[in-house]
Amino acid sequence: MEKRAVEALTETQAREELADLAFRLNRANSDYHADDRPVLSDADYDALKRRNAEIEAQFPELKRSDSPSDRIGAAPSEGFGKVTHTTRMMSLGNAFDRGEVIEFDTRIRRYLGLSEEGALHYTAEPKIDGLSLSLRYESGRLVQAATRGDGTVGENVTANALTIDDIPADLTDAPEVLEVRGEVYMSHADFASLNARQTERGGKTFANPRNAAAGSLRQLDARITQNRPLRFFAYAWGTLSEPLAYTQMSAIARLAELGFCVNPLTRVCDGPDEMLAHYSAIEGQRATLGYDIDGVVYKVNDLALQERLGFRSTTPRWAIAHKFPAELAWTRLEAIDIKVGRTGALSPVARLSPVTVGGVVVSNATLHNEDYIAGRDSFGAQIRDGKDIRIGDWVQVYRAGDVIPKIADLDLSRRPDSAKSFEFPTTCPECQSDAVREEGDAVRRCSGGLICPAQAVEKLKHFVARNAFDIEGLGAKQIEQFYRDGWIKEPADIFDLKKKYGSGLQQLKNREGWGDKSAANLFAAIDEKRKISLGRVIFALGLRHVGEAGSNLLARHYGTWDTFEAAMRDAASQEGAAWDDLLAIDGVGNVMAQSLVASFRQEAERASIERLVAHLNIQAAEQRNTDGSPVAGKTVVFTGTLERMTRAEAKARAETLGAKVAGSVSARTDILVAGPGAGSKEKKARELGIEILDEDSWLTLIGQG
Ligand code: IVH
Repeated sequence: MEKRAVEALTETQAREELADLAFRLNRANSDYHADDRPVLSDADYDALKRRNAEIEAQFPELKRSDSPSDRIGAAPSEGFGKVTHTTRMMSLGNAFDRGEVIEFDTRIRRYLGLSEEGALHYTAEPKIDGLSLSLRYESGRLVQAATRGDGTVGENVTANALTIDDIPADLTDAPEVLEVRGEVYMSHADFASLNARQTERGGKTFANPRNAAAGSLRQLDARITQNRPLRFFAYAWGTLSEPLAYTQMSAIARLAELGFCVNPLTRVCDGPDEMLAHYSAIEGQRATLGYDIDGVVYKVNDLALQERLGFRSTTPRWAIAHKFPAELAWTRLEAIDIKVGRTGALSPVARLSPVTVGGVVVSNATLHNEDYIAGRDSFGAQIRDGKDIRIGDWVQVYRAGDVIPKIADLDLSRRPDSAKSFEFPTTCPECQSDAVREEGDAVRRCSGGLICPAQAVEKLKHFVARNAFDIEGLGAKQIEQFYRDGWIKEPADIFDLKKKYGSGLQQLKNREGWGDKSAANLFAAIDEKRKISLGRVIFALGLRHVGEAGSNLLARHYGTWDTFEAAMRDAASQEGAAWDDLLAIDGVGNVMAQSLVASFRQEAERASIERLVAHLNIQAAEQRNTDGSPVAGKTVVFTGTLERMTRAEAKARAETLGAKVAGSVSARTDILVAGPGAGSKEKKARELGIEILDEDSWLTLIGQG
């Protein structure tokens, strides 16, 4: 085909050609790696890549998230391209016992307003212990494969995914847009032979099949992935141009028809008894399945009900993971160290004689706090029959999933005479400030604040963490290095790094692990994060009791940094309209509110935040897709009995339409939805002249009448 000069391309032509080039180059990579039978000569391949680069240079805004120029052949330090998931990749809530599974069913019934007898079916299937992957097909072609990342933005691993046999490159009779989600994993047999091969070659071995799968998928060179035997089970989907089916089970069957591997142990169950029976059956087969699973996932089978149930901040209401019990092992407690966290908490860490627990070598475990070591819970009641933990004791370690290993018990009969009781420090081991334990708090905290180097470093590590600023090339290790050298003392310093030390690049370059390219990449990665969402900024500040979900709630409520910051200042006295407004945010409790305003009251903390904000371009919180919604931005309060849906569902729907749902009526309330039995809230709303609707009028207003 004759090629137009790049300068002569219209935007549409450029976009189309970039899509075509991405497809052809990705396909060429996979053909080359998969079949050892390249369909393109090296020269043709290079010509396509050059053409792609030229178009991107002419139309930088059209550069695709899966651009071939970010991929194979690119310098490894450039890493993977980023992909923003069009439908967020969620994680799952956990249940650990029968009671929690029954509670899951009860919660769903309550939300949907179903009686105990009403039919409600679930699917039950193994929870594969691998890493999740989202595969996007357009017109039946695999156009993009992305890892989960933080759920919103993942890494583009298309070329690697194309080397996996279980992942079809083309589908017939598929919806126009189909995002298939599932788990990449490695079988036990393949894992053992991979490790044997690696040992033979003097290469790196992997601790378990999941690490091996993750390490293999996230290879910058797809030729390495190609030689790693990865597999894929499909179990969910993201964006679709048309529904796959009416039920979870038939949607999975449809994915199987399209050519995906789906787990053969998936069943439909008619309630908790059958779910638990299937859990036991799967657990019974665990040792002989040939791949790792760490529990059973239950999902509401009816997709219309899934839709109604929707999501909490990061997990669906309609699914849960019932985890297998934790794995246990005995070992000796060698020492207890104290780690100082970002909020000053002194956390005791057990240093153990290394021991394998569920396939992973464990040498550290958390000991929670001083009471736990002493054999008491936070209310002063005995745990472990009151046995305290001493250095030299034999302790039982357990780990469940990814969480930090814990100590469950100790064996008094094996306690050596030399075992030493542990004296919990009352000064901070890092800065020698007093470590105080406030009444009602289980934790002792360093009172040094920002002068404590451990707190400062931990705060910085949190600041650059994945769900916060997520600066590529600036992880925990680099933060420690920069802090030690005095280059970064607080978050704002990160954004001054180039200005202050750009000239000292030589210095940076000469240090271990840094070259010209990596230093330049770091500055570019920092610059990239000057533009950032409000939710991330609030979370990154690392304020006590303000987690990711809370930060997002605050961001959505206040919208912009200026409004948020002004509100925190106005609420400082913990009374008045700004304080009431903060407390009225559903999901913000007293503890979080107090911690927030306390942080903004502290001069040093506030000044540090201001220095940071001066470097940023904070994006107003993303409002939900509320175009045309009559209640977007309005504050709504529900009271009394709702008859057509439960309170929880009403609230979730209102929020989806961009409304803010508050728990109490104030001058800022726009609408009160009052069902029968409404009391004081309705009275207050009348006094304040607030619009009051009954349930039917509310549903009519939001177009669901
Ligand atoms: S469903 C919206 N099904 O577990 C729900 N997840 O702990 C999407 N996983 O991130 C997940 N096996 O990586 C689902 N059969 C299964 C699964 C499964 C493994 C993983 C998945 C998810 C994680 C949550």
